[in-house]
Amino acid sequence: MSVVHVNTPGGSYPIHVTAGRLDRIAESIPNDTTTIALITNPTIFNLYGERVLKALQSSGKKVVQVQIPDGEQHKNSQTLDAIFDALLQNRLDRKAVIVALGGGVVGDISGFAAACFMRGIRFIQVPTTLLSQVDSSVGGKTAINHPLGKNMIGAFYQPTAVEIDIHVLKTLPKREISAGLAEVIKYGMITDADFLDWCLANTAGLTSLQDTQTQYAVTRSCELKALVVSQDERESGLRAILNFGHTFGHAIEAGLGYGEWLHGEAVGCGMIMAAELSAEVCGLPEQSVQKIRDLVAAIGCPTAPPKWDHDRWIDLMGLDKKTEGGQLRFVLLPELGKSVVQAVDVATVKKVLAKF
Ligand code: NAD
Ligand code: GLY
Repeated sequence: MSVVHVNTPGGSYPIHVTAGRLDRIAESIPNDTTTIALITNPTIFNLYGERVLKALQSSGKKVVQVQIPDGEQHKNSQTLDAIFDALLQNRLDRKAVIVALGGGVVGDISGFAAACFMRGIRFIQVPTTLLSQVDSSVGGKTAINHPLGKNMIGAFYQPTAVEIDIHVLKTLPKREISAGLAEVIKYGMITDADFLDWCLANTAGLTSLQDTQTQYAVTRSCELKALVVSQDERESGLRAILNFGHTFGHAIEAGLGYGEWLHGEAVGCGMIMAAELSAEVCGLPEQSVQKIRDLVAAIGCPTAPPKWDHDRWIDLMGLDKKTEGGQLRFVLLPELGKSVVQAVDVATVKKVLAKF
């Protein structure tokens, strides 16, 4: 088993990564826990629910189940209210612990419920998609969507532990694996060029979920994310580098309609576009851009963005959270493994869009 430590002002906690961890998650339940609320959705419950219930019951604590509907469209205030109803009906108190079993949707809404219920109870992330194992379960961003914007209502609230079982990835659709791998290779691009080379040399093992490669990739991704969020929990600066490829990616998701491309697929393609912009603005060499292109293709993500009018791209990118005073800001790579966040003028962005 690998253990990664996250240390932030808002909380310090271990991330345990290993095959078969689901059966041992009770080890992370604090001794003084009164009740455990297992929050998941029917898809995941059918696959892993009984096993996780059995593991949690071995702690000797009372376990209650809360099932929420599957899908991003349910990451909203109605579902949050339904979670609160269940917690109150089951008389959970301040010593209760929420266990979030699922992908980023379950993790984000359960974490936000934990942050709000009785002004904050403990929660454990048990991420079951690759994206949630390497990204959303780590770092304490919790949220629900608002009709006027994605992830607009939320809190920074750290879990007490993250329990990662790499074998649960075997039931994920192939596209979800590719989308999660986009976030894995992102960490190499922004912080660790050696890890990027390792990914390039191991794409076959990664896409086919070989144990050795998956265990290393998930662990290294968590380590690299932990390093960033430990320095900047609330995204006052450095943490923004985790958004490499996201300015273009979010535009693709919003422009095509959410769900048409998976988030990671849009980020994969967006990273190629951000690499081209890096070449234009801060001299990223062409062979590095090509390496990014090759890697995005090798993990199975789209490499060609939608063909839109440039003004439409600029308009869609203006919705990005990094935009300041109407000026577009991007995460750029002066070289592989190094990243900066900077404003780029519209004419330069359009010049790069013309290459696609
Ligand atoms: P998801 O949670 O919707 O999961 C994708 C699908 O896979 C769902 O249908 C789910 O039920 C199913 N599933 C989950 N685990 C499975 C398994 N092991 N086997 C088979 N099916 C399984 O999607 P996601 O990509 O995990 O998460 C996306 C969400 O994460 C978005 O809401 C996004 O905003 C959020 N997010 C949050 C952060 C953060 O830092 N908090 C970072 C990135 C993304
Ligand atoms: N997923 C980006 C972040 O956690 O900051």
